[in-house]
Amino acid sequence: MAPAMYFTFVALFISGATAYTNYTVGGKSGWFFDQNTNTSSANYADWAANQTFDLGDYLIFNTNTNQTVVLTYNETTFRSCSIDNSSDSDTFIYGQGNENFGQPLTVAVPLTIVGLNYFFSDANDGIQCENGMAFGINVSHGVGLPPNLNQPPPPPYVEPPSNADGSLTPTVTNESSGAGLSVGGNVHWMVWYSFMLCGIFALLLV
Ligand SMILES: *[C@@H]1O[C@H](CO)[C@@H](O)[C@H](O)[C@H]1NC(C)=O
Ligand SMILES: *[C@@H]1O[C@H](CO)[C@@H](O)[C@H](O)[C@H]1NC(C)=O
Ligand SMILES: *[C@@H]1O[C@H](CO)[C@@H](O)[C@H](O)[C@H]1NC(C)=O
Ligand SMILES: *[C@@H]1O[C@H](CO)[C@@H](O)[C@H](O)[C@H]1NC(C)=O
Ligand SMILES: *[C@@H]1O[C@H](CO)[C@@H](O)[C@H](O)[C@H]1NC(C)=O
Ligand SMILES: *[C@@H]1O[C@H](CO)[C@@H](O)[C@H](O)[C@H]1NC(C)=O
Ligand SMILES: *[C@@H]1O[C@H](CO)[C@@H](O)[C@H](O)[C@H]1NC(C)=O
Ligand SMILES: *[C@@H]1O[C@H](CO)[C@@H](O)[C@H](O)[C@H]1NC(C)=O
Repeated sequence: MAPAMYFTFVALFISGATAYTNYTVGGKSGWFFDQNTNTSSANYADWAANQTFDLGDYLIFNTNTNQTVVLTYNETTFRSCSIDNSSDSDTFIYGQGNENFGQPLTVAVPLTIVGLNYFFSDANDGIQCENGMAFGINVSHGVGLPPNLNQPPPPPYVEPPSNADGSLTPTVTNESSGAGLSVGGNVHWMVWYSFMLCGIFALLLV
């Protein structure tokens, strides 16, 4: 029993410490596109071809808001260099929503599905993707997903429930807990004094 627990613990420790790798896409070149020359800052297909990827690894995109990061499992979407006809279930867009160009941006994408994972930038109406901002990787199982990634995606955002509807959040009233305790304390003292008085009466009677 004890040795089994020990080995489980050691295995967990080792896998937590060494099993997963964070890959910086393009290495020092990052994930950038030069609009003046229509060139990407690295050859990402070559970069990807020289690595092995496992579940639980991350791709780190060091970039700015002039590029996007699209992950898709759908080869048709990848080849189209566009998210126009893509489905929310197989295509995920990172780094969108900033109105300002050129703002520094780091995108960390966990690898959670075995097999072909495609990445591209859909900025500049596909021109970036058509000119090198695109690559595919083949993700292997490795040791499997770590617990923090091995769960269903979070449900869509809903308004936090109010306290009135029986939610699990404690109801906060203006009756502070300090006041409640001091009331309890007073009761304690009254009981205590009552006992003392009874005792004194009893002694007097004897
Ligand atoms: C890998 O990147 C993720 C997401 O940014 C981070 O939570 C994790 O700590 C990183 N792991 C390592 C070994 O740097
Ligand atoms: C970049 O490529 C697109 C087509 O892919 C072309 O329309 C555009 O003129 C090119 N721009 C430059 C600066 O070469
Ligand atoms: C992979 O990277 C190593 C070291 O950077 C390099 O020597 C090798 O030529 C690369 N291989 C491929 C297929 O790109
Ligand atoms: C892939 O995406 C295209 C649209 O880009 C869609 O028509 C097709 O059904 C998708 N394929 C799968 C297997 O979901
Ligand atoms: C999306 O689908 C429409 C209608 O089928 C098609 O005309 C268009 O070219 C498609 N767009 C892309 C980027 O594949
Ligand atoms: C980002 O894009 C804007 C608009 O296209 C351009 O003016 C700017 O030079 C770009 N910045 C960088 C850092 O590429
Ligand atoms: C991906 O890798 C697996 C083995 O790790 C292999 O069986 C499979 O054929 C590869 N898929 C592609 C499309 O290369
Ligand atoms: C609690 O007290 C604050 C002021 O002390 C008051 O504005 C607020 O309406 C009170 N809330 C309740 C639920 O009584």
